[in-house]
Amino acid sequence: MSEIDLAKVELNYERFREFANNRDLSERERIGFPESYRAGYEEAILTDIVSKLEFRFRKGARLLDIGCGASPMTSAILKAAKDFEISAVMNDSPEMLSLIDEDLPFEKLPGRFPEVLDQALQMHPEGYDLILCYSVLHYIVLDTSIFDFIDAICLALKPGGCALIGDIPNLSKRRRFFASEEGIAFHKAFMKTDIPPEVKHFDVQRDAIDDAVLGAVVARVHANGSDAYVVPQPRSLPMFNRRDDIVVQRRL
Ligand SMILES: C[S@@+](CC[C@H](N)C(=O)[O-])C[C@H]1O[C@@H](n2cnc3c(N)ncnc32)[C@H](O)[C@@H]1O
Repeated sequence: MSEIDLAKVELNYERFREFANNRDLSERERIGFPESYRAGYEEAILTDIVSKLEFRFRKGARLLDIGCGASPMTSAILKAAKDFEISAVMNDSPEMLSLIDEDLPFEKLPGRFPEVLDQALQMHPEGYDLILCYSVLHYIVLDTSIFDFIDAICLALKPGGCALIGDIPNLSKRRRFFASEEGIAFHKAFMKTDIPPEVKHFDVQRDAIDDAVLGAVVARVHANGSDAYVVPQPRSLPMFNRRDDIVVQRRL
């Protein structure tokens, strides 16, 4: 177990490279999650990903996993891809990719997305049927233009292809939840307190993703000739009450 407070540290691509080299971190901690946030939830997360990307209709497809990490979740995705006869290209830093269990087949695309878009398309010029980018977008906004990132995902997809940009913390949703009765009860039980959470609706939180950002991403995808939807997470997921997913279906 690490001595790093994962709730407080600001994570970006470079920091994750350091984490990948830190042997004191567990497999889940090195991708930024305290054990309790992921352990026991990976199967439910996988079920949701397989359903939203419709793996069962995608035999023979090629998947690009952007910011795939190297944890039990990564191995579970590779196993599901193999079971559904989907080939996988895994993208992350070279340090993170070197930690993925190589028992299952996959190709490596090392480097920061979207800088590696050209390499991704050199590897497979026809593009990708499926793209997964799970629990990554909130780190992207710290380093990269979110629109450039979304454009690159649209360009990497084949027409008819589908992307899941998942597990996005939505500040607006979080505030609505913690202002609700359900959210207040959740906070009291989780924090073991009788004091309700303080919700500051108009505090400026720089770099946070909110309804406005998600709406702008959807509008950008529409402008690129594709469909996009903000969709909820099932209750079986650990942060369903404050995170959203975006599903992109490339049309043109
Ligand atoms: C919170 S982890 C999520 C890992 C995995 N997708 C999952 O949900 O288990 C974020 C991952 O994104 C990677 N990452 C961050 N920025 C990236 C970028 N611009 N391009 C590629 N990978 C990136 C990090 O190295 C890290 O492994």
